[in-house]
Amino acid sequence: MSVKKEVEGKLLALRTKLQRHNYLYHVLDDPEIPDIEYDRLMRELQALEKQFPNLITNDSPTQRVGAAPISQFGSVTHKLPMLSLDNAFSEDELRDFHRKLKERLELDESSAFLDFTAEPKLDGAAVSLLYEDGILVRGATRGDGTKGEDITHNVRTIESIPLRLLDGDYPAVLEIRGEVFMPRAGFDALNAKARANGEKTFVNPRNAAAGSLRQLDPRLTATRPLEFFSYGVGYSEDGHLPERQSAILDKVHEWGFASCPERRLVVGIDGCFEYYQDMEEKRADLPYDIDGVVFKVDRLDFQRELGFVARAPRWAIAQKFPAQEELTVVLDVEFQVGRTGAVTPVARLEPVFVGGVTVSNATLHNMDDLARKDVRVGDTVIVRRAGDVIPEVASVVLDKRPRNTDPVILPPSCPVCGSAIERVEGEAVARCTGGLHCSAQRAEALKHFVSRRALDIEGMGAKIIEQLVDIDRIHTPADIFELTHDELMNLDRMGPKSAENLLAAIEASKQTTLARLIYALGIREVGDATANSLADHFGSLPPIMNLSQEELQQVPDVGPVVAAHIHAFFSDEDNLSVIQRLQNLGVAWSDSASTDEQTSGQNVLEGKTFVLTGTLSAMTRDEAKDLIKSHGGRVTGSVSKSTDFVVAGDNPGAKVKKAHDLQIAVISEADLSALLETEIPKK
Ligand code: IVH
Repeated sequence: MSVKKEVEGKLLALRTKLQRHNYLYHVLDDPEIPDIEYDRLMRELQALEKQFPNLITNDSPTQRVGAAPISQFGSVTHKLPMLSLDNAFSEDELRDFHRKLKERLELDESSAFLDFTAEPKLDGAAVSLLYEDGILVRGATRGDGTKGEDITHNVRTIESIPLRLLDGDYPAVLEIRGEVFMPRAGFDALNAKARANGEKTFVNPRNAAAGSLRQLDPRLTATRPLEFFSYGVGYSEDGHLPERQSAILDKVHEWGFASCPERRLVVGIDGCFEYYQDMEEKRADLPYDIDGVVFKVDRLDFQRELGFVARAPRWAIAQKFPAQEELTVVLDVEFQVGRTGAVTPVARLEPVFVGGVTVSNATLHNMDDLARKDVRVGDTVIVRRAGDVIPEVASVVLDKRPRNTDPVILPPSCPVCGSAIERVEGEAVARCTGGLHCSAQRAEALKHFVSRRALDIEGMGAKIIEQLVDIDRIHTPADIFELTHDELMNLDRMGPKSAENLLAAIEASKQTTLARLIYALGIREVGDATANSLADHFGSLPPIMNLSQEELQQVPDVGPVVAAHIHAFFSDEDNLSVIQRLQNLGVAWSDSASTDEQTSGQNVLEGKTFVLTGTLSAMTRDEAKDLIKSHGGRVTGSVSKSTDFVVAGDNPGAKVKKAHDLQIAVISEADLSALLETEIPKK
């Protein structure tokens, strides 16, 4: 065999391998090899291609970000127009849609159950991907539906878009359609980074996705966390497609694309309503924004019979959810002081119903962000609330700005305690210098101390703490344990029974764990994951209090900044005396139990959210899911700030990295079993 043939064989083998692992990772979410092994294969391919540059093919996985920046976008005429969807905003409108379908198809009552493909309406950018003989040759935006822009160089950088279709019976010419979107976690991280660098933030994930696709330089697009879900096939030539929308999407999946995991086949109008309700409930937990659900008549012969009106098919409809963005007016901008003294500008708003709740306050993050967005009192703004995320002012509608408004400036002193506000050069955050003399900081620190992941004092809500701080009854966490029944009774809306319950909860919270205690102390940058790591690593409090910053950094999560904060905290006499008083008052912690649960019995995982990744050995993922659920926990598909644990099996994927980034505990399958078995009473 000639050298060339041999190298070609090797290149093909490597590319096919990488392509398969890419598919397992990005589409099936079920990787077989660890990231490091994938990287090794990629480097091997790169090295070989460097040696034989004339054997590089355009569909090689090394060529995703290959192209040089373009100078302008080419125009693309779609082979079949990219239509839009009619909307239904109410149950009645959906019923109407269904009735018309039955009339047009002349279905009588007995055969009136139509099948629909039901899927979320993703909030991203519609994209057309053209494959010739299985190779990606063109990517285009929807544009006006007839003509779009050529964004081939950018879609190539999205790893869930195959450069070559997986083996299979695909048509010689095949146009895949779907949505490019930015998952919420990626969006939040992108904006957080932009804020930290003093750059402009994106209004929402949709704009971020669309903006990322409209970059001239693909290297920039490649850094953006974009994903692609396919929802259909456009043009095709020389090949056979199934006669049902659902079966087409199954094929598309086999060819190498992800489609939305929430896709279902539903039957009749009742099936549609049920799906809508399901998705509305799930919406906040999905890792991406959706603005409704889409129903498509599943049978293609029916679709052909129904045809189109104007720009939308008669066989499909989008049923919209209540909006996650609304317009409202800024009544005032106030400054809130947090636990660590951070002064956050907050917009007081004309109340507006958005994302399922009435919003009357929205965060403006920090002074830089406020200055960039230039939010002023009297402005009309877009407020956004997606998922469980805190409502924020996304942008100002400048057209609607009244005359004579002034930019908002940082007050020189704390609105609560009057201490100076300090802004360290180069830091986005301004801080009140009052420390625990500032009642706002005190109240926040105390709220943190009693919160769920800290000492978990049930019934000790924000209102109670604020009252106790206002009347100067509690200054430090230790004071909580000296409260009497009478004192509690005197608080607003507190009866003898609830005072009794609260006292019992305070008493119960005295038996805690080291990890909870460390977290509860509210040391800067020490979240519950770091607290757990510290507890695991050192096993008791004295070493954490006494070790040097270098020694503290032996703990995996602890870098120089965190070590400095820990060290500073325990060098403060006041803090030490609080810990001493806590002990004197009977607060006790079991050393080194980290991933503890204070609840017992069947619901030991109550309120905990899990994400599973990698291959489990003792049970299947579904079994693990059921087990977690049967103990009161929840399982979601992707890691976010609300995740409590990531269970990593063999060859876990990027979820573990993300968990580390977000400081979320990663546990093994054995840890999970231990968590369940130790707490469940044996029959
Ligand atoms: S189907 C003929 N399915 O909605 C049907 N569209 O208003 C055309 N979209 O431009 C599209 N999720 O960007 C379809 N599951 C989904 C969708 C979806 C989002 C967007 C898409 C399109 C717009 C149509």
